[in-house]
Amino acid sequence: MLILGIESSCDETAAAVLKDGTVLLSDVIASQIDVHCKYGGVVPELASRKHVEAILPVVQEALSLAGVPLSRIDGLAVTNGPGLVGSLLVGLSFVKAVSLATRIPYVGVDHLAGHLLSVFLGPDKPTFPYVALVVSGGHSSIFQVTDPLSYRLLGRTRDDAAGEAFDKVAKLLGLSYPGGPAIAALAARGDAKAIPFPRAWLEAESLDFSFSGIKTAVVNYVAQQQPSTKIPPAEYLNLPDICASFQEAVAEVLVEKTLRAARDTGAENIVLAGGVAANQRLRQLIEERGQQNGFKVFLPLPRFCTDNGAMIALAGHHNFTAGKTLAYDMDVYSRSKVIAGCAWPGPNA
Ligand code: KG4
Ligand code: ZN
Repeated sequence: MLILGIESSCDETAAAVLKDGTVLLSDVIASQIDVHCKYGGVVPELASRKHVEAILPVVQEALSLAGVPLSRIDGLAVTNGPGLVGSLLVGLSFVKAVSLATRIPYVGVDHLAGHLLSVFLGPDKPTFPYVALVVSGGHSSIFQVTDPLSYRLLGRTRDDAAGEAFDKVAKLLGLSYPGGPAIAALAARGDAKAIPFPRAWLEAESLDFSFSGIKTAVVNYVAQQQPSTKIPPAEYLNLPDICASFQEAVAEVLVEKTLRAARDTGAENIVLAGGVAANQRLRQLIEERGQQNGFKVFLPLPRFCTDNGAMIALAGHHNFTAGKTLAYDMDVYSRSKVIAGCAWPGPNA
């Protein structure tokens, strides 16, 4: 079965062709970082316009690299939420038009489902059930995944997502967008113990996160250091130490809560997903702490952590295998149905 997966929920236009749920024939990503970086974040209106420009060439390239004509595709999979509504509509409308013209069936995929399964695109594949930490620009949630289509929410952020915290702190420090890679690069030469930023553990049993406190702590720290004359942050702050200390505080909480979730649910396997899962320190810490606690840790290849079409094709493959297709009046949604459809509050909330 050949699936063409299409992703346009935020600032990446992506398409991939996946064979039988395992063989990735192509994976094309057009990033809009150049467009949004001067604004320090994604501008929704610009994102939609860029998706309109990119979607056809990206899909054509994915088909051509895969060596597969459109007529041989068995199913179309498209992200229809959560995300920026205008951006999602570009992908969904494109797929509906292709489906109408070619009679190839299509399914809508929840973006989080794509992230939750992205680890299967790499060589190291977990068995079910597993506990997955999804950390991206829009989400910080822990799920129990019992099969490719069943996810139970165990905890989530009560305010900012981890990636959002990286992006906001980077902006405050005068670093480029997206903030995650910029902070990680500086953190590599900083001292993670230099500044004791707070860890938000919340209630003793809670698997929820909160990142607004650490963001405020960085704002306050920077304000305290600021000299009376106005000069750029890089000239009076030790950016590597701030970045390393901030990154460590975020990673520690993410890792310890994920371990707790695995313990609570009796899972042997832990999976990381989402853009922040590309963070080397987070990957190192979860591997270390997972091993110490007797868990097997599975990390997606970094290229499958950030948004891509391959994970959407994979989630779509499982939808088709389960016999799901969609009607032409299907709409997009901005908030995750994976979360809305879960038993919430979770067991420890
Ligand atoms: O999954 P993703 O590509 O898009 C969303 O679904 O949000 O994640 C993007 C987020 C951004 O907030 C970005 O700063 C963060 O992932 N990110 C990182 C790293 N690479 C990307 N955060 C920390 N360290 C990184 N190396
Ligand atoms: Zn994402």
